[in-house]
Amino acid sequence: MISKIGVIGCGLMGSGIAQVCATAGYETTVCEMSQELLDKGLNTIDKSLTKSVEKGKLSAEGKSATMARLRGTVSLEELSDCDLIIEAIIENKNAKKEVFTKLDRYCKPETIFASNTSSLSITELMMAVGTERRKRFVGLHFFNPVPVMKLLEAVRTLVTDEGVFDEVAAFGSKIGKTVIRTSDRTGFIVNRLLVPYLLDAIRALEEGVGSIVDIDNGMMLGCGHPMGPFTLLDFVGLDTTYYIAEIMFEEFREQRFAPPPLLKRMVLAGMHGRKTGRGFYDYTDPQNPVPMKL
Ligand code: 3HC
Repeated sequence: MISKIGVIGCGLMGSGIAQVCATAGYETTVCEMSQELLDKGLNTIDKSLTKSVEKGKLSAEGKSATMARLRGTVSLEELSDCDLIIEAIIENKNAKKEVFTKLDRYCKPETIFASNTSSLSITELMMAVGTERRKRFVGLHFFNPVPVMKLLEAVRTLVTDEGVFDEVAAFGSKIGKTVIRTSDRTGFIVNRLLVPYLLDAIRALEEGVGSIVDIDNGMMLGCGHPMGPFTLLDFVGLDTTYYIAEIMFEEFREQRFAPPPLLKRMVLAGMHGRKTGRGFYDYTDPQNPVPMKL
């Protein structure tokens, strides 16, 4: 039975994952590389819960109880008694391999390992770690912002135990997500559809089909998307999108996954979207993003 959760990484995704786990009643331990990063992540969670209290969505007691279920650490060893570990560190195979290899030594044999990777193969990661717990190694792909987005992709490999997969799906429902089940193919369900769409928007811009604002408005007002493709690209991060596209292109060798030259140039120039203040829009005034002249 899953009752104790370990989350590795307390950045954008990790803090959101830890927040939803603790809110749902799970004892949650979140691990970061340094005390500074840990404090920053825990502070983000605290602020997010305070907002929920202000909006009347959570009681003040509910917030205190959630924070009491949440523990921070900078030592992976402290996650040894967790039933489920969700890794949400940078999208780098070697970094993830290192973390799981250490955890494999510290954790009990029953602990389920899950990666929040959006593009790496779970099977490759699992084999790189060389773990004996192959039947208990899955993908759990969350969406940004984690406390808001209702979806969770549960990824099974060819050797995942059916009972384990059902257990993680039940966990996903308990933290309030709608779980969709998918096999271990790069991009899973959502990024397989989303990434070519985002890349095509960049190609349309390069071809002069429309401006940044007109293409964004087209998809928002014509198709009911909450964000147009360029606003979403800036939100996800152009570096992240480029990285995912490269991995998908390498896997499938299909043109639709190839990152367009403009995306590469923007990433090289440090225009990574909202987080760097510039992407397809300039966020000098975050409330009033101005489309870039590209
Ligand atoms: N944390 C917590 N809550 C947040 C939040 C955050 N980071 N950002 C927004 N919210 C909450 C707001 O507080 C607000 O709550 P309320 O309804 O109780 O007042 C609610 O979400 C709506 O926010 P806003 O009114 O500020 O703004 P919007 O109505 O424009 O919604 C949005 C913001 C939810 C981000 C919406 O624009 C959206 O759904 N955008 C698309 C996001 C998306 O597609 N995400 C997936 C990206 S792909 C991915 O993550 C996979 C990866 O592998 C690439």
